[in-house]
Amino acid sequence: MSSSAPIGVFDSGLGGISVARQIAKDMPAEHVLYFGDSANAPYGIKTPEQVRALSFDIVERFVRQGVKAVVIACNTATSAAVNDLREHYDIPIIGMEPALKVACERGDVPSDPHHIPQRVIVAATPLTLRERKFAKLMDRFDSNNTIFKEPCPDLVEIVESGRLGDHDLVMRTLHGYFDQYDMEHIDSVVLGCTHFVFYRDYFRELLPERAAVIDGNEGTVRHLGVVLESLGKLAPEDATGGVELANSDPSERIAELSRKLLNV
Ligand code: DGL
Repeated sequence: MSSSAPIGVFDSGLGGISVARQIAKDMPAEHVLYFGDSANAPYGIKTPEQVRALSFDIVERFVRQGVKAVVIACNTATSAAVNDLREHYDIPIIGMEPALKVACERGDVPSDPHHIPQRVIVAATPLTLRERKFAKLMDRFDSNNTIFKEPCPDLVEIVESGRLGDHDLVMRTLHGYFDQYDMEHIDSVVLGCTHFVFYRDYFRELLPERAAVIDGNEGTVRHLGVVLESLGKLAPEDATGGVELANSDPSERIAELSRKLLNV
């Protein structure tokens, strides 16, 4: 596979466009083929077996298109399928997981040998929070920190139905999930679903200024860069990259929404 081959990026729907946008910003020479599976969204309330089968179909399509790497721009599909996909394909497969490490490391102050325990809410899909992969991640951090798991499936639906701009609806939905927490004593919220990255400003309205809203997009794209560089597969610097959008839902509504989310 040549270094100028495209990178396949997929999600259950429109959430992974937040990752494609980050790739376009940080690695502008790369050519991205984005595939959103909106016809089958949401993945977060399906079984791992269903999500695995859908993920294999998408990666198979990318392989036929000659991609040099795949980014699973979906925490849910990563939990369900990344290991099997890596076993089956010999191109690099980059997954995503909630950026809990970044959230907990905010408690490590270089001038102080003691870790300051963090109170962190992880907002993700029910499947991500239920899977073994997340349990293993929690095990690494929950003895030193307090971690709350909050499944927020309605936030996926709001993006997919194009209602992200409906301030009242979004704030009502967020209050429904988060009013149970004393936000004054929360140090950070981890956006453990790529759809939720589009809600960053809304989360800011809920949280005190000192609290952080953390997502894994930048870290994932950095990791993609390191992997491609180590294989000598970064696109030539003078190449003109870009993002080509495709979706299993062929409607003009989804195409227009996708373009809009790519450009926000
Ligand atoms: N965007 C996906 C994620 O990062 C999943 C959304 C869904 O389809 O439930 O987990």
